[in-house]
Amino acid sequence: LCAIVAPAEAQNYPTRNITMIVPFAAGGPTDVISRIVTAHMAQTLGQSIIIENVVGAGGTTATTRAARATNDGYTLITGHMGTHAASVPLYPKLAYHPEKDFEPVALLAGTPILILARKDFPPKDLKEFVAYVKANAEKVNAAHAGIGSVSHVSCELLHSILDVKPVGVPFNGTGPAMNALVGGQVDYMCDQIVNAVPQINAGTIKAYAIATPARNPSLPNVPTTAEAGLPAFQAQAWNAVFAPKGTSPAILATLNAAAVKALDDENVKKRLLELGSVIPAAADRTPEALAALVKAEVAKWSAVLKPAS
Ligand code: MLT
Repeated sequence: LCAIVAPAEAQNYPTRNITMIVPFAAGGPTDVISRIVTAHMAQTLGQSIIIENVVGAGGTTATTRAARATNDGYTLITGHMGTHAASVPLYPKLAYHPEKDFEPVALLAGTPILILARKDFPPKDLKEFVAYVKANAEKVNAAHAGIGSVSHVSCELLHSILDVKPVGVPFNGTGPAMNALVGGQVDYMCDQIVNAVPQINAGTIKAYAIATPARNPSLPNVPTTAEAGLPAFQAQAWNAVFAPKGTSPAILATLNAAAVKALDDENVKKRLLELGSVIPAAADRTPEALAALVKAEVAKWSAVLKPAS
């Protein structure tokens, strides 16, 4: 008889608080999604999950720290399309590799990208926005959350389609970038929907279009990029939990089960959907599915992005 016996520590896990590193400022999409899901995971696990916002370098500072953390299940990170894919081609000296240095735990949410602008930015719709940005590329600026962040990479895509190179204004996350957009200190931003729904509904910013094939139920009046005249711009990001490489399979299974349970909770679902997130289908919630997503996304972004100069 052959039985795989997990070490006692893994069997009893967790016996103390867990730290979830969020690689961007509080109030932004990664922070909000992490807080909604980990609050429920903590109930399942019977231990608190403390969010630690560690900012800088488009999320790569925090992700380096998470890669180097002890692999005992007590330090995790909510990574995303930027930290765990786009950063690979953008940072040739990146101190971690998303596939080699992390264990995938669970995909938490898909996050469609919107083109947003300060309320008094002159263009009225997407067609006018395109014409205006092309005509004023030296004057306008785009807020983002650092090189390699989702907001940076998404607007890079947009800019390559428009063949313009406006100035980028970096922040430590799109939480603070959104404050600057609302305050009129920056012109526009390509941001994940989670950050935008409350502001769009409050009328404090403009939304030109959502870069997905269909409109989002949380923003029924915002046209798709295809409807608004720019079908080539399609972008949706994702957020997911990762543990440092070598974390025990028993711990990873416990964490995955807690995340999946959270995504099935009616209240968690409601909150994520209200903010426009796409809740992963059952088949996309496994560590294997997340590993495949990271692999595909690293390959995809490595083919289109060049090292930041
Ligand atoms: C954030 O949480 O601030 C965002 O995910 C930043 C980004 O990647 O654009």
